[in-house]
Amino acid sequence: MASIRKFIFHDLRTIDGYIDPPDALVFLSILESQRQRDLKGGIAEIGVFFGRSYFLIKKIAAPEEKVLAIDLFDLGNQSDGVPTQYQQFIDNGTRLGLTVDEDLVIVGDSTKLAANDIVDKVGELRFFSIDGGHMLSHVTADSHLAEGSLAKHGVIAFDDTFNPAWPEVTVGVADFLRESQQYSAFCMTKYKTYVCRNEFHADYLAAIADAPHLQAFDHVETEFLGAKVVRLHDPLPRRILHEIVNRLGLSAFSERVYR
Ligand SMILES: C[S@@+](CC[C@H](N)C(=O)[O-])C[C@H]1O[C@@H](n2cnc3c(N)ncnc32)[C@H](O)[C@@H]1O
Repeated sequence: MASIRKFIFHDLRTIDGYIDPPDALVFLSILESQRQRDLKGGIAEIGVFFGRSYFLIKKIAAPEEKVLAIDLFDLGNQSDGVPTQYQQFIDNGTRLGLTVDEDLVIVGDSTKLAANDIVDKVGELRFFSIDGGHMLSHVTADSHLAEGSLAKHGVIAFDDTFNPAWPEVTVGVADFLRESQQYSAFCMTKYKTYVCRNEFHADYLAAIADAPHLQAFDHVETEFLGAKVVRLHDPLPRRILHEIVNRLGLSAFSERVYR
């Protein structure tokens, strides 16, 4: 476990991308609670970029578990001498000792996929991170893709919810929850909303409340579309302290800030 915390507070920063320690600790807590309850299944992510959240998931998952990466991978052009997005993603895996299984990478537009494209590769999913296209059409398509490929105990992590820079993400998630009536949110952070099937809602709510890695956050009870949600608040003084510690090159100590 110490090595996963080291990965979250040190190695994650070495990969270009977006997930930060608070959500990384939520990913860890959800995946760990599933493992403790023997809730099995594949894992997938739409929107890999250079692999920041993907390699976090690989690090947490057992070596034999299947983690599917889906991205357009259309950034960069080898002719200008800079490795393409895809090559940088693969290289990050090699550097971190988390080699990518290229049979489990889908290069293309997630909105064109069918649930079977996912289930055939990794089985029904226990965890699906959605961080691809951020317009309504993308979130609508990606959430239906998730619905078709999730195991009954599966969790969807939607990125950039309630971010004013991407207002349609929030609309897409709300539409999905209201139309399906089968899913509800159980956890929110500054950046992400975590959703599961209604019959697992109480279990995941309890998993978040009891997670040892999340005790450093304020747990604020709120409600979203009729479901009880724990909002994890990361107070500003701690965020500042974490940033200062890192800027001083003391990333080895930054983990202590979140104990
Ligand atoms: C914000 S980045 C993902 C960040 C990453 N999850 C992280 O934690 O660093 C968004 C990614 O979504 C990909 N993307 C955008 N639209 C997509 C689509 N329609 N299908 C698949 N991937 C898409 C982009 O290529 C980009 O790499």
